[in-house]
Amino acid sequence: MSRSILITVSVLSCLVFQSCEPQGNTKQKHSTFGDDESHKMGQDCMNCHNPTGEGEGSFTIAGTVYQGALSDIVQPNALVKLYSETGSQGSIIAELEVDGLGNFYTTKEIDLSAHVFPQLSKSDNSQAMITSTNKGNCNSCHGVTTDKIWLSN
Ligand code: HEC
Ligand code: HEC
Repeated sequence: MSRSILITVSVLSCLVFQSCEPQGNTKQKHSTFGDDESHKMGQDCMNCHNPTGEGEGSFTIAGTVYQGALSDIVQPNALVKLYSETGSQGSIIAELEVDGLGNFYTTKEIDLSAHVFPQLSKSDNSQAMITSTNKGNCNSCHGVTTDKIWLSN
């Protein structure tokens, strides 16, 4: 292979597979109340925030909370808890603060393989997912194949 073809191939694979970062995408990140560092509300964050993606940090859990199932208005500063059992029972596998833009995310390694039951709360208000999930990219279903994640004021 000629040198110019080799260069073309490596540039293409960098563009196509977004694997330009030789060190991997290891930046540690997590959302906190009031934070406004995040963006792209409602999108599937892990499309970019994955081990080789362009987004800073590889997220294990992430999503967006709105004020209604079909609302475009985000619900900031709520709390997401992932329980091991249905009905907000069992142990808490993970707890994430929703930021000031309605987004929650973490790069922490969290084992979801045994499935978890998400619960959402703010003040005295709460809602829980009845079925369980082993997927941390919450916006891959919510806002796509089912309602947005929501909690009213
Ligand atoms: C289309 C790709 C893409 C999507 C989808 C995406 N991001 Fe990002 N994200 C990036 C890129 C690229 C950066 C770094 C540059 C920048 O800040 O725009 C970034 C930066 C960030 C940062 C700032 C990191 C820092 O250290 O300052 C946060 C927080 C963040 N994203 C959260 C999210 C959340 C939460 C979602 C989903 C709701 C999301 N991103 C969806 C590409 C994306
Ligand atoms: C495989 C698709 C799928 C994934 C992934 C998923 N959900 Fe859900 N979620 C649903 C469906 C369908 C419902 C409605 C039926 C139910 O409660 O089981 C729901 C309901 C909910 C509810 C109750 C209604 C509401 O919005 O207040 C919450 C809270 C929730 N999900 C949070 C989450 C969180 C947080 C994650 C990521 C850790 C997540 N979900 C991942 C499909 C999914």
